[in-house]
Amino acid sequence: MSDTQTEALKAIRDEVWQLGEVPYSGKPDETPLAVIRKQTGVHAVIGEGNHSAKLMCVGEAPGRDEAKLGRPFVGAAGRILNELLTANNIPREDVYITNLIKDRPPGNRDPLPHEIELYAPFLDRQIEIIKPAVIATLGRFSMAYLMEKFGLKEYLLPISKIHGRIFEAQASYGPVKIVTLYHPAVALYNGSTKVQLIEDFKAIKELLDKA
Ligand code: URA
Repeated sequence: MSDTQTEALKAIRDEVWQLGEVPYSGKPDETPLAVIRKQTGVHAVIGEGNHSAKLMCVGEAPGRDEAKLGRPFVGAAGRILNELLTANNIPREDVYITNLIKDRPPGNRDPLPHEIELYAPFLDRQIEIIKPAVIATLGRFSMAYLMEKFGLKEYLLPISKIHGRIFEAQASYGPVKIVTLYHPAVALYNGSTKVQLIEDFKAIKELLDKA
């Protein structure tokens, strides 16, 4: 983990934090997520893990527990993610875990297009800093964003059709594999999705062993 990487990640943290400091006087129901974060006294969730991780997992957006603690995947979905990693002998601390959106959408609603546009460049920078060999997209929002970013838009299908697929892509720093997965939260109410997720993570483990 180099100082340069840590500094670059801190700069992202500071910039996201600053988004909540911009005065806002528009319609209450259009209040930016970062302003809501400041008003409600919770945290932005930038990401955590190994700054030179071979595997980066990208979820959708922080939920209530994550915003309270400022850490990704620490609530119910996080417990599933931990199980999936453990079942495949992937230590969580070896992975870099983040989200497409860095502030919690109220009531865990879907992110809006302008919110994706605002926060996605931070994810782009995280990818450039960490240079993962494998990126696992968790759920349809990070899947759609990253497939488009890496020129895979023509292969984009509903997640039920492409979960567990491995797409080869080219990042600025070299080849990267994009693996499209169900969001772990789906496994909270659907047991067969959990079985599927464990299987799909097995494929990731095989990729990591070869990377
Ligand atoms: N769901 C996500 O997509 N990300 C989190 O950090 C937690 C739940």
